[in-house]
Amino acid sequence: MSRALSIAASLAVFVVGCRGEVSTDAPITPLRNMHFQQRYNSQAHSAFYGDGRTMRNPPEGTVARFPGGANVQYADFTVGHDESFLEDDITLGHETDSPAYVMTIPDRVTQAAGGLDAMVRRGQQRYGIYCTPCHGGVGDGRGLVYLRSQGPDGPRYAYPQPANLHDDRIRHIPDGQLYATIANGVRNMPGYAAQIPVSDRWAIVSYVRALQLSQINTGATP
Ligand code: HEC
Repeated sequence: MSRALSIAASLAVFVVGCRGEVSTDAPITPLRNMHFQQRYNSQAHSAFYGDGRTMRNPPEGTVARFPGGANVQYADFTVGHDESFLEDDITLGHETDSPAYVMTIPDRVTQAAGGLDAMVRRGQQRYGIYCTPCHGGVGDGRGLVYLRSQGPDGPRYAYPQPANLHDDRIRHIPDGQLYATIANGVRNMPGYAAQIPVSDRWAIVSYVRALQLSQINTGATP
């Protein structure tokens, strides 16, 4: 047997021999820098706080945003739904018993909003908060989030161009689909179900329609 081979063989025995051993010895740690930090264990006593407890209560007045635990927001699309529309098909952009999106905003939604006028005004305000950053005030898809990604010498970082809401296709999607886009998002656009309650989603739909009408044949947007 050559020397190299016997070295390799004994190394293999050595390595394999280390496996599966349970040791009670303290591990050898050449760099201990962050191994031992001053911290409290949960439920432990604290000499720091007056009440002697490590775990703190939420500040007074804190409102539980997601009754049932913080994670329900990811599983449950009823979060952000108005009481009046809970467990209702219009919260999906459908009308009862039909899998198809409603073509127009359901009447009872408009009524609950206090009429079309009030609804569009509310929608304008909510659009300004939730949609303008990406889609821009006129809805051409050139909001600040997008513009900031575009440097003078080409893109600073990749940000997908938000849709131009005046595209012919988007002008013609059913109101229910526009609603569902706001609630659930689409491709690169995140959903806003957790932030925007049902009635406000419909209000935004009404405003987007008004915005689209306002730009028809103005030549301002394609
Ligand atoms: C964080 C940025 C961002 C915000 C905020 C945002 N969008 Fe979008 N939106 C996008 C992007 C990006 C796309 C294109 C998605 C794609 O094609 O991948 C898009 C696409 C769309 C579309 C096209 C859907 C389709 O069928 O192609 C509509 C309609 C839309 N958004 C409406 C809205 C409305 C209404 C709001 C306000 C509630 C809103 N968006 C808020 C980024 C945003």
